[in-house]
Order: sequence, then C-alpha cells, then structure tokens
Amino acid sequence: MSKPISVALVGATGLVGRAVLDALGESSLPLSRLTLLASARSAGTRLEHAGAELPVAAPAEGAFRGVDAAIFCAPAEVAREWAPRAWAEGCAVVDASPAFRLEPDVPLVVPEVNGAAVDGFRARGVVASPGGAAAALSVVLGPLHAAAGLERVVATTLEPAASAGHRAVQQLEREAMDLMNGREPEPGGAVPHRLAFNLVPQVGAFLEDGRTDAEEGLGAELRKVLGAPGLRVAATAVRVPVFYGQAAVVNAATARALPAAAARDLLRRSPGVKVLDATAEGVYPMPMLAVNDDAVLVGRVRDDRSQEHGLELVVVSDELRKGAATNLVQILERLAALL
Ligand SMILES: NC(=O)c1ccc[n+]([C@@H]2O[C@H](COP(=O)([O-])OP(=O)(O)OC[C@H]3O[C@@H](n4cnc5c(N)ncnc54)[C@H](OP(=O)(O)O)[C@@H]3O)[C@@H](O)[C@H]2O)c1
Repeated sequence: MSKPISVALVGATGLVGRAVLDALGESSLPLSRLTLLASARSAGTRLEHAGAELPVAAPAEGAFRGVDAAIFCAPAEVAREWAPRAWAEGCAVVDASPAFRLEPDVPLVVPEVNGAAVDGFRARGVVASPGGAAAALSVVLGPLHAAAGLERVVATTLEPAASAGHRAVQQLEREAMDLMNGREPEPGGAVPHRLAFNLVPQVGAFLEDGRTDAEEGLGAELRKVLGAPGLRVAATAVRVPVFYGQAAVVNAATARALPAAAARDLLRRSPGVKVLDATAEGVYPMPMLAVNDDAVLVGRVRDDRSQEHGLELVVVSDELRKGAATNLVQILERLAALL
C-alpha cells in the first residue's frame, strides 16, 4: 500500500465530484487530508466524507501547496486555468474534463487498457480521463483490439441526463413532472430541447462538418487509449430521457476473424467487464442494471453477417462510475505509487 497522500477534489459539489467522494471512500488509498473545492457559489457549504463534514472552498492562489494530487471534475475552462497552477504548486492533476484529453504530452488513461501511460504524467503534471462513453468502450474494445486488431467502429451512444451534469438531471426531473401534471415545460436548459419523452440527437456543440465535438472526441479518445492511430470511428451521440446509465450500440470490424462466441469468452475474462448475454432468458445490459456498478456491462454480442469479421454488441455502464469517478480514482491509485 502507498503512503498516505493529501488530495484535493475540484468540482466536489457536482455529479462526478460526489461520485468521486464515494469512490475515494471505497478505495484502499490512504488519505492524509482531503480538500474540497468548487465554484464561489458553493464556498461555505459542507459535504460529508468518511463520517466527517468537510468545508467547500473556491480555488485560490496557494490552494494546492502541500497537496500531492488533485482530481478535477469541473468544466474544461476551470481545468485549463487551475491545473497548470496546481502543478506549479507541486500538485499532480487527474482531470475528468475534455481540456487536456487530446494533448500529445498528456496521458489519457483507462487503467484496464493503458494504465502504464500514467508514468508519463510529469510532462505536464496532468493525467486525463476520457469521456464516459470512451472510457466504457475502451474497457470492452481494448481486449477485442488486442485479440483481432480493430479496424473500424460504428457507435451510437445513448447518453443519459447525468452525462451532461447536475443541471441536466434537474431539467429532466422538472420536465417529466410538468408533463405528468399536464403542464408544458419551459423550453431549454442544459439540454437544448425538451428531453422528457423525447430523444435529442445532439450531444455537445456542432462542428463545421455536421458532427459534434462529443462525436469527434469519442473517436480521437478511443484511438489514443487503445493505441490504435489508424482506427476508423463513426459516432452518433443521442441524449435520451434516462437519468443515469449510458448505453452504446456498437458495430466493429476486425482485421482477423473473431467470432461472437470467442469474443464473448474473451470479454468474460477481461478486467472491468461483466458479460450479460443470455438472450433466451431475456438477459442483456440495461442502464437500470449498470447504475452504481463499477463494471462495464456487455451483451447482445453477435456476428455481423453484412461484412467480413464484423461484430455487433451493446455496452452499458454508469457514466458517473466507470465513465468518470471510478476511472479517476483508479488513475489516482496508480499515480500515488509514483509520487
Ligand atoms: N457527468 C458525466 O457523466 C461525466 C463523465 C466524464 C467526464 N465528465 C466531466 O466531468 C466534469 C464535471 O461534470 P459534472 O457532470 O459533475 O458537472 P456538474 O454536475 O455540472 O458539476 C460541475 C462542478 O464544477 C464546479 N465548478 C463550476 N465552475 C467552477 C469554478 N469556476 N471553479 C471551481 N469549480 C467550479 C461546480 O461547482 P458548483 O456546484 O459550485 O457550481 C460543480 O462542483 C466536466 O468537465 C465533464 O465534462 C462528466
């Protein structure tokens, strides 16, 4: 076990921040101190951790002095401003936001797949964690890539309100209540259209070519985590009226043959994966089965007969667990051994 470390949590009051508090409580990593930070709006509030009420403060000059490592789960602009300042004060950063994910000298890590990449953290003092969909898909696609060489992935991600933060969860709650009570909800909010009883085929901001930054990011993050620069990825991200639990419908093409039965066996032996695939009994992954589970659930694994070496599968996970907090804390555990 590593020596006790002093940790700061930036964005402690958010959805990911609260899940990180839980994950730190479940981790065997010994903490000498835990400092909670959020925006000035939350300064003065208190959050419970390990039986103690800890105060929340806003980040300020000197906040990271004497802190070994910080987990950032705040917006990207906060990470861009404060992560370099934290490292200048001697504090290594594990970042959940998209700010540094694709920087060539910042490791982007899913420990089950490329954990050793954490060793490169000193270049910028930052290790990045992928977006929720990329983290979950990496855990499943990593073993398939190692066994048969992934060439192309077509993924439709079904993203719950929670993957857009606490304001989106409140929006879905409010809209569902309004509609159930015969009232037309106020338009807009964290999701650009009504989400309740609807599907919104926009996650992130549109780029000039019609994709969104989230769809482009998914491909780039998968290539980086899997170490597969030539992997072709086509993604469509849809916001769905589910509070927690994300899903992805995946079609994959591999260079070498990997029949569905062999892929299923391989995934059963892969770390961080649970195979739920007994269709005759109605067993397959669903968001309600994934919430509060650190594992990535996979099922509906079948041969895609429309192409050579094609596979189809459904991947489901808790976007706040393996999609964020669990992955962040796993990275922190590896980092702690290097500090
Ligand atoms: N949600 C997911 O499934 C998921 C998955 C992977 C990665 N991520 C990434 O994780 C990050 C957090 O997401 P979330 O869903 O937890 O969002 P959220 O629920 O909206 O929480 C945002 C957090 O950031 C804090 N914050 C905002 N402005 C700040 C500032 N100027 N200084 C310090 N703290 C500030 C907020 O504090 P206040 O409460 O005081 O406003 C809150 O604690 C984002 O970068 C997101 O892209 C999210």
